[in-house]
Amino acid sequence: MKAEWIARQSSRPQGWPGQIVARVMSYETIPVNRLALDELEVDDDESVLDVGCGHGRTLAALEREARAGFMAGIDPSEVMVSLASRRLRKARGRGRAEIQQAESHRIPYPDGRFDAALAVHVLYFWPDPARDLAEIRRVLRPGGRLLLGCRPDDAAARAALPSSVYALCSPEDVEKLLLAAGFDSVSTQIHQLGEAPFACARAEVGAAAG
Ligand SMILES: C[S@@+](CC[C@H](N)C(=O)[O-])C[C@H]1O[C@@H](n2cnc3c(N)ncnc32)[C@H](O)[C@@H]1O
Repeated sequence: MKAEWIARQSSRPQGWPGQIVARVMSYETIPVNRLALDELEVDDDESVLDVGCGHGRTLAALEREARAGFMAGIDPSEVMVSLASRRLRKARGRGRAEIQQAESHRIPYPDGRFDAALAVHVLYFWPDPARDLAEIRRVLRPGGRLLLGCRPDDAAARAALPSSVYALCSPEDVEKLLLAAGFDSVSTQIHQLGEAPFACARAEVGAAAG
């Protein structure tokens, strides 16, 4: 079982312990974020929002791949915003990236701003996931898509992650939440990474959505 203080720091890194957790996390989550990006299939010139962008490593990878695109990250943790801002410094200077301190239930962008969004290992920390998903949908254009990545609820995840911090969801519940938030064409891939499964739910905003 992950110690509760580490779990709390993972949910919103703060202070010097948060700096350490953030740095470890930035390596640990490379494989799952790679899967998420592969499933999101971002074109060269697209605008992408990383919700709970943390350390910014995923945005930096995207920035290298989508050479004509725009990358935005939001995160409520000052530690994470500072790390991601430093990592994306050059891209920010060129107007190709922005990092903002914000939560996913109040995203500081207008309706339809993004072609795609991802949120990896964030869903567990939302007190009201339906509200946050509806807000992510709002900032996606008609035809835009979201990739929601999380550890699915199972006995191993429950044994590893303290329930006082991690609200785990089954893949079926995640799909229901996405549909309730107004997304269409929801599908889930379960990947096996070492001993732990990782669920990638991909959802689209209907082309006629206004
Ligand atoms: C486990 S980390 C994952 C970071 C990154 N997505 C990754 O895969 O490495 C969870 C992140 O979500 C952020 N977070 C927590 N609650 C959030 C919320 N309501 N809105 C946006 N981000 C949130 C935390 O500050 C933290 O940076």
